[in-house]
Amino acid sequence: MKNRIHFNVCERQEKVKEALFSAIESERTTIGYYNLPEQNIDDILNYSNAFSDDIETIVVLGIGGSSLGAKAIYEFIRPIKSPKRKLYFFESTDPLNIMAILAKIELEKTHFLVISKSGTTVETISIFKYLYKKQNSPSNYTFITDEGSGLDAFAKKIGSKVFYLPANVGGRFSVLSVVGLLPLALSGVDIKKLLVGANKVKESFFNDGYLKESLLNKAIFYAKYHTTYNINCLFAYSETLRYFSEWYVQLWGESLGKKQCNSAFNVGVTPIGLIGPKDQHSFLQLIVEGTRDKSVTFIKIEDFQNELTVPDIRLPHLESLDTLNGITFHDLITMQSDSVIEALKMQGDIPLDEIIIKQVNEESIGQLIYYYELLTSLVGQLINVNTYNQPGVESGKIILKDKLQKRYKND
Ligand code: PA5
Repeated sequence: MKNRIHFNVCERQEKVKEALFSAIESERTTIGYYNLPEQNIDDILNYSNAFSDDIETIVVLGIGGSSLGAKAIYEFIRPIKSPKRKLYFFESTDPLNIMAILAKIELEKTHFLVISKSGTTVETISIFKYLYKKQNSPSNYTFITDEGSGLDAFAKKIGSKVFYLPANVGGRFSVLSVVGLLPLALSGVDIKKLLVGANKVKESFFNDGYLKESLLNKAIFYAKYHTTYNINCLFAYSETLRYFSEWYVQLWGESLGKKQCNSAFNVGVTPIGLIGPKDQHSFLQLIVEGTRDKSVTFIKIEDFQNELTVPDIRLPHLESLDTLNGITFHDLITMQSDSVIEALKMQGDIPLDEIIIKQVNEESIGQLIYYYELLTSLVGQLINVNTYNQPGVESGKIILKDKLQKRYKND
């Protein structure tokens, strides 16, 4: 993984960098996600390897941090590797969506993973109740939750298997824990390689590798200019990264959009997930000519390992596009991203950088995930927010629960 930065990094920031690095080192002793790349995953592998081949489908019931990470990785890997079992995600209380997913699965050949850190999330538990009424065999369910939650007690009561989230791992930082690893292992993703990728970024950052400097520089720039460039666009040049983009929006938005600690100010950098080349034909206009409030990170794939080529045929009246003849789509999409980068560089006042991953594989996505988790923690430190809570999200949950309580009493 490479990171090319095309904006002027803040000079003379050595003291800030040192303080930031030591703040993250000390956070690492309490916040659980930092050390997930080195966890022991034997239990997860043994459990998933023992699954019968009769189980053809895995259904995840979870939302937000309990589903987006696994979905991002599953959808990234799927084009290059047919899944051992298909993964479906029930994330919405939209009844049409529930019916549409149900229509795709055969209940007898399906195993359900009920994933909720708190164990009390309305979306997850309402859909679980619906499915449990249809299929109530405890062996068809595995629960992943915090030890001691109501969901933990329920799972034990019916005799289902329960896995616990490791200590101090928040929902949106949990993809490299059992929350993401179990569904991914069951679908045939090589979770060891995922952790190898994440560990490479971890080692590079914590042991003076090349990503340390680039992550610190980027975080300082984003924090220092967070009121000027208050939008961060992730422009990923591959459809495989569509759900990674959703994961990034949740990670960044829920972690960094906050009231500052001990302050009256509300802060945040708005995440936007874009996919190239499609969004060249829409949002790009706003980046090139719109308000100068956006930084842009391009993600590129160095080698698509695919030689699909535009055929060498001449079409009447379309001779001007004969220039496409014989080009591989790999080269074409790379030329497209490079052209947009060049166009933006010419503007001279849009902060840009490029992340280049080698190939579409487990190691690459493990690297990207850990890189973005680290970047989020670094920016959170610098803009002085509590990166790991989500009082804004909780406030809506509390009101909903109150409304449900009133409705239940009135019935
Ligand atoms: O990151 C977070 O904390 C949230 O997005 C949660 O993951 C989400 O609200 C679901 O919560 P839970 O896992 O408790 O069901």
